[in-house]
Amino acid sequence: MDKKLILNKTKEFVRRKLEGEGSGHDWWHIVRVYNNALDIAKQTENVDCFVVQLGALLHDIADHKFGYSDEDRRKIILDFLKTLKVQDEIIEEVVYIANNISFKGGTNKHELATIESKIVQDGDRLDAIGAIGIGRAFSYGGYAKRTMYNPNLREENEKEIRECCDSDTISHFYEKLLLLKDLMNTEIGYKKAQRRHEIMEEFLNNFYAEWNGGI
Ligand code: ADP
Ligand code: NI
Repeated sequence: MDKKLILNKTKEFVRRKLEGEGSGHDWWHIVRVYNNALDIAKQTENVDCFVVQLGALLHDIADHKFGYSDEDRRKIILDFLKTLKVQDEIIEEVVYIANNISFKGGTNKHELATIESKIVQDGDRLDAIGAIGIGRAFSYGGYAKRTMYNPNLREENEKEIRECCDSDTISHFYEKLLLLKDLMNTEIGYKKAQRRHEIMEEFLNNFYAEWNGGI
């Protein structure tokens, strides 16, 4: 099994599928998750780096948001990796990663079963926070036509307003992004997340200060 060749062919396959994707799962997201995950894997013992690499590359293939089921995703990954003659056990590990690491609105709360999946999930979560995470949140907000910030949503009659208006992008920080630090699986991932978390807190403080004309 020529791992380098398999990785190159997989990169090519994923790049072609995800190029130009506008909701935050474009090819460059995959590259960043790959780099994050590989960095953690290299500093962790008893990890199959090849599984981490393939898992990171294929983790957003056939996303559930676009109507694909776990079974669809399994078939797409299986069919592709079989053409490259990847061993069955490795394919199963990669399918497990793609089918289990997503946040899925916070409903996916079970403990992951393999160190490789935990590392890819940490790599994915790191890309949702920090400076990159801030960029992605606002870029997703534009894609979903959401307003950046609506102070009215936070006033006393919040409930009434929430019923009439769509949420804003700043809310996403409180609903998801600021929670991710404490959900990291690995010690190394947690350390990286701490720094990125501070960057978001700093950003939010500056955002409100600028909003109010304070700076
Ligand atoms: P996952 O890959 O974990 O399923 P999502 O698909 O929910 O994550 O999100 C992809 C990117 O878009 C992330 O960076 C996420 O923070 C951002 N995003 C998702 N939902 C929102 C939202 N409602 N407002 C702003 N950003 C969002
Ligand atoms: Ni992802």
